[in-house]
Amino acid sequence: MAKVVDVRLTVDGKARELAIERATVGNDGVSMATLLRDTGLVTVDPGFMNTASCESSITYIDGDNGILRYRGYAIEDLAMKSTFLEVAYLLIHGELPTEDQLESLNNRVARHMHVHEGIKSFLGAFPRDAHPMAVLSGAISALSTFYPESVGRGAEQIELATVLLLAKAATVISYLQRRSTGEELIEPRQGGHYVDEFMRIAFSNETGEIDIDPTVSRALDLLLILHADHEQNCSTSTVRIVGSSHANIYAAVSAGIGALSGPLHGGANEAALKMFDDIKASGDTVEQFVAKVKDKAEGARLMGFGHRVYKSYDPRGAVVKAVADDVLAKLGGSNETFDMAKRLEAIALSDEYFIERKLYPNVDFYTGLLYSAMGFPTPMFTPLFALGRMPGWIAHYREMLADPRTKIGRPRQIYTGEVERSYVSLDAR
Ligand code: ACO
Repeated sequence: MAKVVDVRLTVDGKARELAIERATVGNDGVSMATLLRDTGLVTVDPGFMNTASCESSITYIDGDNGILRYRGYAIEDLAMKSTFLEVAYLLIHGELPTEDQLESLNNRVARHMHVHEGIKSFLGAFPRDAHPMAVLSGAISALSTFYPESVGRGAEQIELATVLLLAKAATVISYLQRRSTGEELIEPRQGGHYVDEFMRIAFSNETGEIDIDPTVSRALDLLLILHADHEQNCSTSTVRIVGSSHANIYAAVSAGIGALSGPLHGGANEAALKMFDDIKASGDTVEQFVAKVKDKAEGARLMGFGHRVYKSYDPRGAVVKAVADDVLAKLGGSNETFDMAKRLEAIALSDEYFIERKLYPNVDFYTGLLYSAMGFPTPMFTPLFALGRMPGWIAHYREMLADPRTKIGRPRQIYTGEVERSYVSLDAR
């Protein structure tokens, strides 16, 4: 039964009823859109801790109970039973694809995996040790200049840009992997399986031949699914806000990649693995490291822990942890680091500091261990997250564009500076 909510705001003795916006499941919202006009007040909510910026029917999170659903389907089911392109179709179009629809998407993406020679030159212009997230953001923005027929807000252009982004992001990221090891770029082949082709371009020798280990391919597919969307997170909100100015989808996704690169967001997978290595190198016990994290003066955080929305175990982290044992055993990954990570998790989860603040492992706590076992160097972890998040960014951009209520994103502020001053000329200062 729907809650009966009646929200009134009294300003200067005058009561106003605030409109309630209903969710199908989860938190209803109180509309503040006319507050300024009606009362001269603005809402204050740094970090958007309690602000719903839009209506969305893509992804649902129940942070208290560790629930994540894409279009109503449980993440655990999708991770174990689906494939990444199937999930991409689901997020973007709202329904799981039929066999024909999936084959058509597979074929279209495979056909567009090659990239323009200019993109290859562009990638080659950066220093070899450039961080791949910086290069990726630039390359995705640059796609609009190489494929102008896909730029615009028309349905056909958006449909083409959707396929180009899924296809060319995979090739660009696999090229970034090749460049990091000094390998020449090789051409994509048509008709392959998306994840296998990504792995082949990333890791094959110059003849392009490689045996893809099905364990690796399946594990990477699963990791991409787990990262595919997460409602209004920092990078997705960035994509929406950039898109709200009617900037093209490449510009919006490029900005989202910039947001994802931060260590408090997608960059946490890289930061978590570095943290494990630093603990080992320092000779500290995990107990000593946890003590440093709790001492705010040290300024250290337990990377891969905590989340704005999850106040219980991140269900994506639970899936990764559950498959990590198996995958690491098959790939011969660092069990020593995995054991240390599990000890770190156990100590944190029984410590009052973390219990009180409801800090649990998030998806990034264990993913770096798997990427590393697959052969990816640490700086490639966040680009892999970006590849996974691509369908989510695309789906949100499309939803934002199709929503007649979308307005340009433009927050207000509480001004705290000087009121008014007389100008002082340079010689008098
Ligand atoms: N280690 C230690 N303490 C932490 C951590 C952490 N990882 N995360 C939060 N806290 C503490 C804060 O110091 C704060 O303590 P206080 O109340 O005594 O001041 C309290 O918990 C609340 O933290 P906030 O920073 O206010 O929470 P917020 O929702 O703003 O931040 C965030 C969420 C950024 C994810 C934070 O938990 C964090 O920095 N985690 C580490 C980085 C990380 O793993 N990011 C990946 C997030 S998932 C993703 O993007 C895919």
